[in-house]
Amino acid sequence: MKIIVTGATGFLGQALCAQLEAQGHMVTPLNSKNCDLTKADSLHALNAEIYDQIYHLAAWTQAGDFCLYHPGEQWVINQQINTNILGWWQAHQPQAKLVSMGTSCAYAPDMELAEENYFVGLPIDSLFTYAMTKRMLHAGQLALHKQYGLRYLTLVPSTLYGPGYHTDGRQMHFIFDLMRKIMRGKVHGEPVVLWGDGHQRRELLFRDDFVRLAVRLALTHDNDLVNIGAGEEFTIRHFAQLICEKVGYDFDDIQFDTTRYVGAKSKCLSIEKLKRLIPDLTFTDLRRGLDQTIDWFWAERDQLLPR
Ligand SMILES: NC(=O)c1ccc[n+]([C@@H]2O[C@H](COP(=O)([O-])OP(=O)(O)OC[C@H]3O[C@@H](n4cnc5c(N)ncnc54)[C@H](OP(=O)(O)O)[C@@H]3O)[C@@H](O)[C@H]2O)c1
Repeated sequence: MKIIVTGATGFLGQALCAQLEAQGHMVTPLNSKNCDLTKADSLHALNAEIYDQIYHLAAWTQAGDFCLYHPGEQWVINQQINTNILGWWQAHQPQAKLVSMGTSCAYAPDMELAEENYFVGLPIDSLFTYAMTKRMLHAGQLALHKQYGLRYLTLVPSTLYGPGYHTDGRQMHFIFDLMRKIMRGKVHGEPVVLWGDGHQRRELLFRDDFVRLAVRLALTHDNDLVNIGAGEEFTIRHFAQLICEKVGYDFDDIQFDTTRYVGAKSKCLSIEKLKRLIPDLTFTDLRRGLDQTIDWFWAERDQLLPR
């Protein structure tokens, strides 16, 4: 198949492109340098090609508190990116299936994180704008399907982890931040201080598991929104314990700062629909996934653990 991947240089995009190419597909990888999707004419050079699938991963965001301080920019930039891809899909690639990425933050924190609730209630305030641009992306796919019969799939990943994360100094998702703190404690002897009491629970999904499931669903399932999560969550203390074992740091030396706000007590996607669609669902064992990620982190220590 001929497949476009936007966001191809990102943490997820790199693994997705590698997997699609390994399966023999012709992949056109796009990023902000070779195709700035905030520009209306950015995709015109590809008008004459005929694509089978478009994976739309591009988004302007970071982890941590980035969204809290950039809501205006995020609204304009992500709406431009999404509107341009949706408009081009309808005008030039109506035969292609558009597979886009949603976010678990789009769910209201007091609702079950199940697909039928994606548009119900309001997302958490600190991630409101980012979450709403993801809801609007899904709404755009629904509208184009309704009027023109275009085929789409919206996939909602839980927090992804694995080797190959960013090393350029941008804010990190919680599990990488946890690794960084514990490894700095080990290497530089710095105190390891984690926010909250460590009993808050979080879900993680190994990036390669997500890619495998996404590629399979993109072939078999149309016109729907599907959560892709691991179906179980663990406390921050549990993640820290596993990292300490691998790194060789004494867990009892970790301090917990309970004055810090850490958000929801628990956050785990419902994967009942995913289980129905993929009955032979399997996931990488958490300990194995963390070991691989820590090995990668250690190999990148010059950038990730500077003194
Ligand atoms: N990582 C997660 O845990 C997670 C969880 C849930 C959902 N998601 C979603 O999955 C998708 C991929 O996530 P990720 O972690 O791989 O993100 P990422 O590493 O931040 O990558 C973002 C990608 O978007 C591209 N991009 C940014 N602005 C662009 C523009 N103006 N024009 C064209 N491309 C642009 C970037 O290109 P450059 O490299 O050129 O900047 C990069 O390839 C995103 O939609 C994200 O919301 C991720």
